[in-house]
Amino acid sequence: MDEINLDKLKNPNAFLGRITRKVRKIAMDSTSEARGKILDVGCGNCLFFIEMAKKHQLDEKDLFGVDLNLDLLLEARKLAGDNKINLLNILCGDGVSLPFKPDTFRYTFCLNTFINLEISTIKKILAELERVTTPGGYIIIDIRNKANPLLKLKYFLNRLTNPIKINAYTLKDLLPYIEESKLKIIKTINVKVPPFLTVDKILIIKKE
Ligand SMILES: C[S@@+](CC[C@H](N)C(=O)[O-])C[C@H]1O[C@@H](n2cnc3c(N)ncnc32)[C@H](O)[C@@H]1O
Repeated sequence: MDEINLDKLKNPNAFLGRITRKVRKIAMDSTSEARGKILDVGCGNCLFFIEMAKKHQLDEKDLFGVDLNLDLLLEARKLAGDNKINLLNILCGDGVSLPFKPDTFRYTFCLNTFINLEISTIKKILAELERVTTPGGYIIIDIRNKANPLLKLKYFLNRLTNPIKINAYTLKDLLPYIEESKLKIIKTINVKVPPFLTVDKILIIKKE
């Protein structure tokens, strides 16, 4: 893959951490056939689309991103421009209420984002991802793995000092929301980093 120009990335710690990068890479490699309209909710500075567009031949007009944080979307424009990618459809908005018609996207991603959200918000976002994804389309999400004792301890200590809460979940936490919908988990990918415990789980979900 061509090197990506990240000179204008303002907060490498938030976007280039080991787990964050690996989740984006595995999600991208697992959906290399993704074509048609693609949505990224919680797209941040759009590194996922930039990495995807660099690796796969994608039509830029099919890429849609939504994020609450306008500053990150402005950064996305600069980063994309530096990498000769034209992100035409990135919007400031809330994943709990997406500005799209039902059945619009063939692939809908929400990566490295549930870590910052409470389960009640995740439930609302899942309902929106289901609504805007086409029948037969795919939803790709991930959770930090609460069953990992090292991660659990790290996040517990982080909560004592960091005003931004970070959350890990188990599949069991999400299952009630998935089971009551038209969604079916077709693949679970365990993401591991040294010392090789599962730090994150990527779920590939199909809308029936
Ligand atoms: C850790 S960043 C991950 C960014 C990107 N998905 C990635 O993997 O590089 C989480 C992003 O989710 C966004 N976010 C959090 N809650 C959101 C919501 N309710 N709707 C849309 N975006 C949200 C934040 O603004 C932030 O940009």
